[in-house]
Amino acid sequence: MTKMIFNDQIMERENIVDIEDRAYQFGDGIYEVIGVYGGKPFLLDEHMERLQRSAKEIQLSLPYTMEQLRRNLVQLVKTNELDEGIIYMQVSRGVSSREHYFPGNSITPVTIAYTRAEERMSATEDAGATAVLVEDIRWLRCDIKTLNLLPNTLAKQKAVENNAIEAILHRGDTVTEASASNVFIVKEGELFTHPANNYILNGITRRKVIQLCESLGIQVHEEAFTVKTLLQADEVFVTATKSDIIPILKIDNQSIGQESPGKITRKIIQSFRSAIRELEKS
Ligand code: PDD
Repeated sequence: MTKMIFNDQIMERENIVDIEDRAYQFGDGIYEVIGVYGGKPFLLDEHMERLQRSAKEIQLSLPYTMEQLRRNLVQLVKTNELDEGIIYMQVSRGVSSREHYFPGNSITPVTIAYTRAEERMSATEDAGATAVLVEDIRWLRCDIKTLNLLPNTLAKQKAVENNAIEAILHRGDTVTEASASNVFIVKEGELFTHPANNYILNGITRRKVIQLCESLGIQVHEEAFTVKTLLQADEVFVTATKSDIIPILKIDNQSIGQESPGKITRKIIQSFRSAIRELEKS
Protein backbone atom coordinates (compact mmCIF):
# COMPACT_ATOMS: atom_id res chain seq x y z
CA MET A 1 0.00 0.00 0.00
CA THR A 2 1.40 3.39 -0.91
CA LYS A 3 1.82 6.12 1.67
CA MET A 4 0.36 9.61 1.76
CA ILE A 5 1.13 12.97 3.29
CA PHE A 6 -1.27 14.18 5.95
CA ASN A 7 -0.26 17.66 7.06
CA ASP A 8 3.50 17.25 7.45
CA GLN A 9 3.60 13.53 8.17
CA ILE A 10 4.16 10.67 5.76
CA MET A 11 1.78 7.93 6.86
CA GLU A 12 -0.21 4.88 5.72
CA ARG A 13 -2.85 5.86 3.19
CA GLU A 14 -6.19 6.06 4.99
CA ASN A 15 -9.56 7.60 4.37
CA ILE A 16 -9.45 10.43 6.82
CA VAL A 17 -11.88 12.97 5.37
CA ASP A 18 -13.66 14.87 8.11
CA ILE A 19 -17.28 15.57 7.10
CA GLU A 20 -16.79 19.19 8.11
CA ASP A 21 -13.63 19.71 6.08
CA ARG A 22 -14.35 22.80 4.00
CA ALA A 23 -12.84 21.11 0.93
CA TYR A 24 -15.57 18.50 1.20
CA GLN A 25 -18.45 20.91 1.83
CA PHE A 26 -17.49 23.99 -0.19
CA GLY A 27 -14.60 22.96 -2.44
CA ASP A 28 -12.76 25.52 -0.30
CA GLY A 29 -9.17 24.69 -1.10
CA ILE A 30 -6.51 24.49 -3.77
CA TYR A 31 -4.56 21.73 -5.44
CA GLU A 32 -1.70 20.78 -7.75
CA VAL A 33 -1.02 17.77 -9.96
CA ILE A 34 2.69 17.23 -10.52
CA GLY A 35 4.18 14.83 -13.05
CA VAL A 36 6.87 12.35 -11.97
CA TYR A 37 9.37 10.95 -14.48
CA GLY A 38 12.24 8.64 -13.58
CA GLY A 39 11.38 9.08 -9.89
CA LYS A 40 11.70 12.88 -10.12
CA PRO A 41 8.96 15.52 -9.91
CA PHE A 42 8.88 17.60 -13.09
CA LEU A 43 8.84 21.42 -12.75
CA LEU A 44 8.25 21.16 -9.00
CA ASP A 45 9.28 24.75 -8.22
CA GLU A 46 6.80 26.07 -10.78
CA HIS A 47 3.99 23.97 -9.24
CA MET A 48 4.92 25.16 -5.74
CA GLU A 49 4.90 28.78 -6.86
CA ARG A 50 1.47 28.36 -8.44
CA LEU A 51 0.16 26.71 -5.25
CA GLN A 52 1.43 29.68 -3.28
CA ARG A 53 -0.31 32.07 -5.66
CA SER A 54 -3.61 30.13 -5.53
CA ALA A 55 -3.43 30.18 -1.71
CA LYS A 56 -2.92 33.92 -1.67
CA GLU A 57 -5.81 34.52 -4.09
CA ILE A 58 -8.28 32.67 -1.82
CA GLN A 59 -6.78 34.16 1.37
CA LEU A 60 -5.55 30.84 2.67
CA SER A 61 -2.29 30.93 4.57
CA LEU A 62 -0.24 27.85 3.86
CA PRO A 63 0.79 26.16 7.10
CA TYR A 64 4.23 25.08 5.85
CA THR A 65 7.04 26.75 4.03
CA MET A 66 7.53 26.00 0.36
CA GLU A 67 10.76 24.26 1.29
CA GLN A 68 8.97 21.94 3.75
CA LEU A 69 6.24 21.10 1.24
CA ARG A 70 8.80 20.50 -1.46
CA ARG A 71 10.91 18.24 0.76
CA ASN A 72 7.87 16.22 1.85
CA LEU A 73 6.73 15.68 -1.74
CA VAL A 74 10.19 14.52 -2.84
CA GLN A 75 10.30 12.19 0.17
CA LEU A 76 6.82 10.82 -0.63
CA VAL A 77 7.89 9.93 -4.17
CA LYS A 78 10.95 8.12 -2.74
CA THR A 79 8.95 6.32 -0.04
CA ASN A 80 6.38 5.13 -2.58
CA GLU A 81 9.14 4.15 -5.01
CA LEU A 82 7.23 5.96 -7.73
CA ASP A 83 9.06 5.90 -11.03
CA GLU A 84 6.44 7.36 -13.32
CA GLY A 85 3.11 8.93 -12.44
CA ILE A 86 1.69 11.88 -10.59
CA ILE A 87 1.61 13.51 -7.20
CA TYR A 88 -1.81 14.89 -6.24
CA MET A 89 -1.68 17.47 -3.49
CA GLN A 90 -4.38 19.64 -1.98
CA VAL A 91 -4.69 22.13 0.82
CA SER A 92 -8.13 22.83 2.23
CA ARG A 93 -8.98 25.75 4.48
CA GLY A 94 -9.53 23.20 7.23
CA VAL A 95 -12.19 21.64 9.44
CA SER A 96 -14.81 23.78 11.12
CA SER A 97 -18.52 23.86 11.96
CA ARG A 98 -20.27 24.53 8.64
CA GLU A 99 -20.62 28.26 7.90
CA HIS A 100 -20.05 29.86 4.51
CA TYR A 101 -17.80 32.62 5.89
CA PHE A 102 -14.20 31.90 6.86
CA PRO A 103 -13.95 30.45 10.36
CA GLY A 104 -11.08 32.75 11.36
CA ASN A 105 -7.70 31.84 12.72
CA SER A 106 -8.93 28.99 14.91
CA ILE A 107 -8.54 26.39 12.15
CA THR A 108 -5.45 25.07 10.43
CA PRO A 109 -5.46 24.20 6.74
CA VAL A 110 -5.41 20.47 5.98
CA THR A 111 -2.67 19.36 3.58
CA ILE A 112 -2.84 15.99 1.86
CA ALA A 113 -0.83 14.42 -0.94
CA TYR A 114 -0.59 11.01 -2.51
CA THR A 115 1.03 9.48 -5.56
CA ARG A 116 -0.38 7.40 -8.39
CA ALA A 117 1.61 5.35 -10.87
CA GLU A 118 0.61 6.27 -14.41
CA GLU A 119 2.10 5.43 -17.76
CA ARG A 120 3.08 8.07 -20.24
CA MET A 121 0.50 8.70 -22.99
CA SER A 122 3.10 8.36 -25.76
CA ALA A 123 0.83 6.37 -28.08
CA THR A 124 -1.91 9.04 -27.94
CA GLU A 125 0.76 11.72 -28.35
CA ASP A 126 1.93 10.03 -31.53
CA ALA A 127 -1.51 9.21 -32.90
CA GLY A 128 -3.52 12.26 -31.82
CA ALA A 129 -7.07 12.35 -30.46
CA THR A 130 -10.40 14.06 -30.85
CA ALA A 131 -12.17 16.82 -28.89
CA VAL A 132 -15.62 18.31 -28.53
CA LEU A 133 -16.66 21.94 -28.04
CA VAL A 134 -18.43 22.89 -24.81
CA GLU A 135 -19.59 26.30 -23.58
CA ASP A 136 -17.36 27.56 -20.76
CA ILE A 137 -19.74 28.08 -17.84
CA ARG A 138 -17.09 28.47 -15.13
CA TRP A 139 -16.60 31.41 -12.78
CA LEU A 140 -14.35 34.35 -13.61
CA ARG A 141 -11.29 33.27 -11.58
CA CYS A 142 -10.19 30.25 -13.60
CA ASP A 143 -6.59 31.35 -12.94
CA ILE A 144 -6.86 29.93 -9.41
CA LYS A 145 -6.36 26.16 -9.15
CA THR A 146 -9.25 25.57 -6.75
CA LEU A 147 -11.05 22.35 -5.88
CA ASN A 148 -14.27 23.61 -7.49
CA LEU A 149 -14.23 21.54 -10.65
CA LEU A 150 -17.89 20.68 -11.31
CA PRO A 151 -18.12 22.59 -14.63
CA ASN A 152 -14.84 20.93 -15.69
CA THR A 153 -16.14 17.46 -14.81
CA LEU A 154 -19.41 18.09 -16.70
CA ALA A 155 -17.44 19.17 -19.76
CA LYS A 156 -15.05 16.19 -19.58
CA GLN A 157 -18.02 13.84 -19.19
CA LYS A 158 -19.46 15.24 -22.42
CA ALA A 159 -16.12 14.55 -24.12
CA VAL A 160 -16.03 10.97 -22.87
CA GLU A 161 -19.64 10.35 -23.96
CA ASN A 162 -18.55 11.39 -27.46
CA ASN A 163 -15.41 9.21 -27.41
CA ALA A 164 -13.27 12.33 -27.26
CA ILE A 165 -10.23 12.98 -25.10
CA GLU A 166 -11.01 16.58 -24.20
CA ALA A 167 -13.71 19.24 -24.13
CA ILE A 168 -12.47 22.51 -25.59
CA LEU A 169 -14.21 25.38 -23.81
CA HIS A 170 -15.41 28.63 -25.33
CA ARG A 171 -17.05 31.72 -23.82
CA GLY A 172 -19.31 32.77 -26.64
CA ASP A 173 -17.01 32.94 -29.67
CA THR A 174 -13.75 32.93 -27.72
CA VAL A 175 -11.84 29.73 -27.05
CA THR A 176 -10.48 29.77 -23.50
CA GLU A 177 -8.89 26.41 -22.62
CA ALA A 178 -10.06 22.81 -22.19
CA SER A 179 -11.67 20.98 -19.25
CA ALA A 180 -8.30 19.93 -17.81
CA SER A 181 -5.72 21.33 -20.23
CA ASN A 182 -4.66 24.40 -22.19
CA VAL A 183 -5.31 24.79 -25.92
CA PHE A 184 -2.82 25.85 -28.60
CA ILE A 185 -3.38 26.31 -32.32
CA VAL A 186 -0.86 26.58 -35.14
CA LYS A 187 -1.52 29.03 -37.95
CA GLU A 188 1.05 29.44 -40.72
CA GLY A 189 3.85 28.10 -38.53
CA GLU A 190 3.06 30.25 -35.49
CA LEU A 191 1.37 29.35 -32.21
CA PHE A 192 -1.61 31.03 -30.62
CA THR A 193 -2.94 30.41 -27.12
CA HIS A 194 -5.29 32.31 -24.81
CA PRO A 195 -3.43 34.88 -22.66
CA ALA A 196 -2.84 33.94 -19.03
CA ASN A 197 -5.59 36.01 -17.44
CA ASN A 198 -8.58 35.19 -15.22
CA TYR A 199 -10.31 33.11 -17.93
CA ILE A 200 -7.74 30.28 -17.91
CA LEU A 201 -5.40 28.37 -15.67
CA ASN A 202 -1.84 29.28 -16.54
CA GLY A 203 -0.69 25.70 -17.06
CA ILE A 204 2.82 24.68 -16.10
CA THR A 205 2.97 22.57 -19.28
CA ARG A 206 1.68 25.59 -21.25
CA ARG A 207 4.54 27.70 -19.88
CA LYS A 208 7.09 24.98 -20.64
CA VAL A 209 5.80 24.73 -24.23
CA ILE A 210 6.09 28.51 -24.66
CA GLN A 211 9.64 28.39 -23.30
CA LEU A 212 10.62 25.48 -25.58
CA CYS A 213 9.20 27.32 -28.58
CA GLU A 214 11.54 30.21 -27.86
CA SER A 215 14.54 27.92 -28.30
CA LEU A 216 12.94 26.24 -31.32
CA GLY A 217 12.45 29.63 -32.96
CA ILE A 218 8.66 29.16 -33.12
CA GLN A 219 6.75 32.37 -32.51
CA VAL A 220 4.03 32.18 -29.83
CA HIS A 221 1.21 34.71 -29.58
CA GLU A 222 -0.64 34.80 -26.26
CA GLU A 223 -3.79 36.07 -27.93
CA ALA A 224 -7.38 34.91 -27.74
CA PHE A 225 -8.89 33.33 -30.88
CA THR A 226 -12.38 32.37 -31.98
CA VAL A 227 -14.03 28.99 -32.41
CA LYS A 228 -13.99 29.60 -36.17
CA THR A 229 -10.21 30.18 -36.10
CA LEU A 230 -9.79 27.02 -34.02
CA LEU A 231 -11.68 24.93 -36.55
CA GLN A 232 -9.67 26.43 -39.41
CA ALA A 233 -6.30 26.01 -37.68
CA ASP A 234 -3.47 24.09 -39.34
CA GLU A 235 -2.83 22.20 -36.09
CA VAL A 236 -4.37 22.05 -32.63
CA PHE A 237 -2.98 20.54 -29.44
CA VAL A 238 -3.76 20.53 -25.74
CA THR A 239 -1.26 20.56 -22.88
CA ALA A 240 -1.45 19.34 -19.28
CA THR A 241 0.61 17.65 -16.61
CA LYS A 242 1.39 14.04 -17.43
CA SER A 243 -0.70 13.86 -20.61
CA ASP A 244 1.86 16.44 -21.81
CA ILE A 245 1.02 17.42 -25.41
CA ILE A 246 -1.90 15.78 -27.19
CA PRO A 247 -2.49 16.61 -30.87
CA ILE A 248 -6.18 17.17 -31.64
CA LEU A 249 -7.14 15.87 -35.07
CA LYS A 250 -10.89 16.33 -34.98
CA ILE A 251 -13.20 18.71 -33.15
CA ASP A 252 -16.95 17.97 -33.15
CA ASN A 253 -16.28 15.61 -36.07
CA GLN A 254 -14.56 18.29 -38.11
CA SER A 255 -11.00 17.45 -39.22
CA ILE A 256 -8.20 19.84 -38.33
CA GLY A 257 -5.39 20.61 -40.77
CA GLN A 258 -3.88 18.49 -43.50
CA GLU A 259 -1.39 16.38 -41.67
CA SER A 260 -2.10 14.57 -38.48
CA PRO A 261 -0.44 15.19 -36.11
CA GLY A 262 1.05 18.31 -37.66
CA LYS A 263 4.72 19.08 -38.18
CA ILE A 264 5.00 21.89 -35.59
CA THR A 265 3.17 19.84 -32.94
CA ARG A 266 5.51 16.91 -33.54
CA LYS A 267 8.54 19.17 -33.23
CA ILE A 268 7.29 20.51 -29.89
CA ILE A 269 6.52 16.99 -28.64
CA GLN A 270 10.10 15.92 -29.47
CA SER A 271 11.51 18.90 -27.62
CA PHE A 272 9.26 18.23 -24.61
CA ARG A 273 10.37 14.61 -24.54
CA SER A 274 14.02 15.67 -24.48
CA ALA A 275 13.30 17.94 -21.50
CA ILE A 276 11.86 14.90 -19.70
CA ARG A 277 14.84 12.75 -20.67
CA GLU A 278 17.15 15.40 -19.24
CA LEU A 279 15.23 15.30 -15.95
CA GLU A 280 15.44 11.49 -15.84
CA LYS A 281 19.19 11.61 -16.42
CA SER A 282 19.83 14.41 -13.87
N1 PDD B 1 -5.35 19.90 -14.79
N2 PDD B 1 -6.42 24.07 -17.46
C1 PDD B 1 -7.16 23.40 -16.56
C2 PDD B 1 -8.58 23.78 -16.35
C3 PDD B 1 -6.58 22.32 -15.85
O1 PDD B 1 -7.30 21.64 -14.95
C4 PDD B 1 -5.23 21.96 -16.12
C5 PDD B 1 -4.55 20.83 -15.41
C6 PDD B 1 -4.52 22.71 -17.06
C7 PDD B 1 -3.07 22.41 -17.39
O2 PDD B 1 -2.25 22.79 -16.32
P1 PDD B 1 -0.86 22.07 -16.05
O3 PDD B 1 -0.08 22.11 -17.32
O4 PDD B 1 -0.24 22.89 -14.98
O5 PDD B 1 -1.17 20.67 -15.60
C8 PDD B 1 -5.14 23.77 -17.70
C9 PDD B 1 -4.78 18.89 -13.94
C10 PDD B 1 -3.79 18.02 -14.63
C11 PDD B 1 -5.89 18.12 -13.25
O6 PDD B 1 -6.80 18.79 -12.76
O7 PDD B 1 -5.83 16.90 -13.15
